[in-house]
Amino acid sequence: MNSCVWKGWLSVCGTSLLALLVIAGARGQSAPPKASPEGGATPKLAEQEYKNVQALKGIPAEQIIPAMQFIAASLGVECEYCHVPRAFEKDDKKPKVTARKMIGMMMAINKENFEGHREVTCYSCHRGSANPVATPIISAEEPKREAAESSKTGEPKPVFPPADQLLDKYVAAIGGADALQKVTSRVQKGTLIAFGGQHFPVDVYSKAPEKRLSVMHLSNGDSITAFDGKQGWLSVPGRVHMMSTTENAAARIDADLYFPLHVKTLYEKFQVDAGEKIDGHDTYLVVGHNEGQPPLRLYFDKESGLLLRFVRYGETPLGRNPTQIDYADYREANGLKIPFRWTLSRPGNQFTIQVEQLQQNVPVDDAKFVAPPPPPAGQRRPAS
Ligand code: HEC
Ligand code: HEC
Repeated sequence: MNSCVWKGWLSVCGTSLLALLVIAGARGQSAPPKASPEGGATPKLAEQEYKNVQALKGIPAEQIIPAMQFIAASLGVECEYCHVPRAFEKDDKKPKVTARKMIGMMMAINKENFEGHREVTCYSCHRGSANPVATPIISAEEPKREAAESSKTGEPKPVFPPADQLLDKYVAAIGGADALQKVTSRVQKGTLIAFGGQHFPVDVYSKAPEKRLSVMHLSNGDSITAFDGKQGWLSVPGRVHMMSTTENAAARIDADLYFPLHVKTLYEKFQVDAGEKIDGHDTYLVVGHNEGQPPLRLYFDKESGLLLRFVRYGETPLGRNPTQIDYADYREANGLKIPFRWTLSRPGNQFTIQVEQLQQNVPVDDAKFVAPPPPPAGQRRPAS
């Protein structure tokens, strides 16, 4: 297959599209959206869905691909490093066999030394390389001795503004709650710039309270990421993928037109810390915590109060997959400050969307957000 297109799709759609294509390949068919009966059906287990799962037995099937993405990111490799294309169940490649042993080792380390808490992951040792380094590296640069330095100066921990104040300042900075709630729809047209510098036209439709659709016009057809208010989905020509529980939670936040107002209610606890400099701006870092869930990290411009960075995590049985969105080029429209550029980054891929045209409070048909039916069997694209 055309690896440039493959790369493009990866970059454009991130890990979710990859998951979609791969699952389709692994099962030898497209994954048709299954209407979950009355919501509460027990999820299928990995070993029921896949052919050769041994170390990860007992986890929900929908967590296999995210766990694989975590492994690939931790070792800095592609799926093909361990897998034979289109036959993911095969154990023909040695690294796959080693990786299976490593999963067992990682679980044993945590069980025996960390009371079963997932403290050590693949990344702890591998740090983005297939071959972990065991000997300290001699560096030409002066080492940073952070701990020693702060105890030397004996400076008291800096005092930060309370989280509530920073979240309120954010709402005020974008124009206030009233201006925000007056916007009920938004249509943005612009350009998507993927890794490698490819450009594609993109349209983003948002409708209050939680509907969102982004259409990327790629060379081989439209790639869509959408959330209809309840369920998220992804599609490429000939394939539709309904989002998993974790993907849905993330998509809901992305789709929330009133996120600046809602964020306070989404987390039980907030913590404030110093954030790193972003694009030359000093920031405060506000971390939202919910029991048993990965945190959400929000970086606010110290001066303007605007949101500059947003980091969320997808939980997997092996570790967390990070997604970072950087917001820039805030401009005013209908009394509201809106970022006209954002960059979405995940380990190994990144793309930027630059908005060129924006309209608000224009009619957007609800039907737009509804997932298309799965294509009939005969018309499915072969897994490439
Ligand atoms: C470092 C090696 C490694 C990498 C990289 C890797 N995998 Fe895996 N994969 C495994 C191992 C090991 C298993 C079996 C796990 C088990 O036994 O529970 C597996 C199992 C699978 C399965 C289940 C196949 C079946 O039918 O039994 C799928 C699907 C899969 N991987 C997809 C992926 C995808 C997609 C990627 C890239 C994002 C990927 N893998 C990257 C090691 C790897
Ligand atoms: C405690 C440290 C540690 C952890 C945790 C760990 N590894 Fe490793 N891994 C190693 C070391 C060390 C080697 C190199 C062994 C060698 O050089 O022969 C290695 C080698 C490997 C290799 C073989 C690489 C190659 O092709 O030569 C794979 C694949 C691998 N690890 C996968 C994983 C996966 C997947 C995880 C998480 C489930 C993981 N490892 C967790 C230490 C670790």
